[in-house]
This record gives sequence, structure tokens and C-alpha cells, in this order.
Amino acid sequence: SQHKSYIVGNWKMNGYQADISKLQAIADGSGSDAGVEVAICPPATLIAAFAQRAGGVRIGAQDCHAKSSGAHTGCLSAAMLKEAGATFSIVGHSERRADQGEGDADVAAKAQALHEAGLGAIVCVGETLEQRDSGDAIAMVTAQLAASLPGAASADWLSVAYEPVWAIGTGRVPRSEDIAAMHAALRATLTDRLGAAGAGVRILYGGSVNPGNAAEILAIPDVGGALVGGASLKSETFLPIIQAAP
Ligand code: G3H
Repeated sequence: SQHKSYIVGNWKMNGYQADISKLQAIADGSGSDAGVEVAICPPATLIAAFAQRAGGVRIGAQDCHAKSSGAHTGCLSAAMLKEAGATFSIVGHSERRADQGEGDADVAAKAQALHEAGLGAIVCVGETLEQRDSGDAIAMVTAQLAASLPGAASADWLSVAYEPVWAIGTGRVPRSEDIAAMHAALRATLTDRLGAAGAGVRILYGGSVNPGNAAEILAIPDVGGALVGGASLKSETFLPIIQAAP
């Protein structure tokens, strides 16, 4: 792909003001790596503070609401996240699909809302272990992506993350040939849905990426980067993943 590798840390429900030192270690350690784009998605409470100290690191949110304002207690709009300093948000993470019952149409609406506010979106998809074992993973995940994409999108603001649910936080990773097959199928779905614009959209892999497996995963064709959970919480494990990017 014509794009730099994109390495995104998703801190999930972890992190306090005291962890700004971790962000600074990540910013300092990755600053010289011109071939890689680095981002951190802290909890929303930290977006503003992190955005002020981010250096070259992009700061993103972990979710946003599809509506721009109104009676939605506890929710944050794309414009609010933008004002706080986020430049993009993850949407449709499997933990939100499971815990908050988000469906594909919700995810597509959230991505569209981000774009309308001038933010980027990382749309997440992935199969459960049951779906993998049934042999239907590619059909299921490509259908999930097709239904989770907004009507029109381009590589300027859209990325996709393939995260097998069974690989998240488990230490289990698919075989490289299975990641390659899924990413090729997702690429076909993107070009099918978005035309030529779909060819440039980065497809990240997520699920138990660590310093020991990052180089192999990031070298797989059509893997444009990684969405990293647990290993992004410390510079000691996140920086080697950034350095492993081709
Ligand atoms: O968003 C990140 C993913 O859910 C991966 O998490 O690296 O802890 O397996 P993990």
C-alpha cells in the first residue's frame, strides 16, 4: 500500500492522568520512526490531556455516538471528541458490540458521524471462535464489514481493523495464512463497496499482537498496521511493535 504502517494502541478502560508519562515515553520512542504512524486511544477522560502532550502521536477515542447532540445520557458526540483533541475514533469494537449490543447499522452511523465532524474512523470487525470453527469466518466477517461501512468512504478518513474475537486478550493469534486470506477478502469487500477508494483503505490486524509476533503479522500482505490492546499500555511492549512495522 502507498500508506505508512499504522500502529494504534487501544487502552480500553485503563489509564489515569499519571499515565501521561507513558504517552510521553511512546511519543519520544517513536518520534524518529518516519515510516510509521502511531496513535493511542485512551479513555475519553484522558483525551484532552493526552492531546496536549502527544508529540507526533495521534490521539483517538474508543467510541462515539451517531447523533450530534441531544438526550443521550452518558454519551459523547464526534464534535465533542474533536474539541477534546481526538482526530479519529474506533467504532464497532467487539467489546462494544457484545457489551453494548451495537449492531452493524449502528457502527456505520457512528463512522458517518465521525466523518461529518471531520474525524477519522477505524471500523472493527471479526468473528467469534464458534464462527471460526464453523468454517464461515470469511463470509461472516466480510458481510459484517459490508454492513458496517458508511455509504461512501475513502482512505483519507477510514481504516478497518480485523480482530478475531477469540484472539483478543487471549495470547492466541490466527495462522498467518488465515490472516492473509481474511485481509484479502476484506480488501475485495472494500473495493466492491467503495470502488477505487477502497484500494487505499488500511486494514489493521488486532488480537494479541505483541513484540514477539508483530514483525511476522505486519509483513503479511494487506496488513496495513495493528490495533494493539494490552501491549500498548507500556512503552516497553508498544515501542518494539512500532519498530517491527515494515
Ligand atoms: O483493540 C484492541 C484489541 O481488542 C486487541 O487487544 O491486544 O489485548 O489482544 P489485545
